[in-house]
Amino acid sequence: MKHLIAPSILAADFGNLQRDIEMLNCSQADWIHVDVMDGVFVPNISFGFPVLEVVRKYATKPLDVHLMITDPDRYLKAFQTAGATLITVHLEACTHLHRTIQAIKELGCQAGVALNPHTPVSLLEDIITDLDLVLIMSVNPGFGGQRFIDNSYKKIKQVKALSDQYNPNLYIEIDGGVNQHNANSLVAAGANVLVAGNAVFAASNPSQTIIDLKVASDL
Ligand code: DX5
Ligand code: ZN
Repeated sequence: MKHLIAPSILAADFGNLQRDIEMLNCSQADWIHVDVMDGVFVPNISFGFPVLEVVRKYATKPLDVHLMITDPDRYLKAFQTAGATLITVHLEACTHLHRTIQAIKELGCQAGVALNPHTPVSLLEDIITDLDLVLIMSVNPGFGGQRFIDNSYKKIKQVKALSDQYNPNLYIEIDGGVNQHNANSLVAAGANVLVAGNAVFAASNPSQTIIDLKVASDL
């Protein structure tokens, strides 16, 4: 599977959100990554439905919604209505993860599970065949612009091994501290979706940086 680039609009200029989304529409970006934070599951609050609806209104690409919220079941339908293509929940936030994943799929969205840096990949063994996507957090969730945690390479390889055995079409997404310098080794380890926030939006030429990320991660 060819790897995808999913710029995170958490790092966009919210004063010029329409402009930044239109830049992504015209770029080589494959998905738009949308980080939703509730101030409870993570120590930060990002944005909710009114902003997501604006993103949906202007975006021409799939919305990859990363829910960093407690008890996400309460809001799955609302995120689907607001325009999510993929919905990823955190394993640490779900008591009945299997039920949550089925609920996402019943809404017609693709379903993902995210793991915090301390959460072992082995906890996915009994859910892996039900998933469209696994997201490995390579920073502690809550903020953009943090330093990549090196242990994440091992976890990508472990997810890749599970994927090879049980679910070859799985999206293996890496999120946090991704840039032009580590993109190649991340794809080599098995990642096939790269999220990038600051690497894209803090660059002087974001759309060129998206191309660079694609080229850098071309094996
Ligand atoms: C962190 C978010 C990430 C973040 C990535 O909680 O899940 O998606 O926006 O930002 P960078 O690429 O700047 O680390
Ligand atoms: Zn994210």
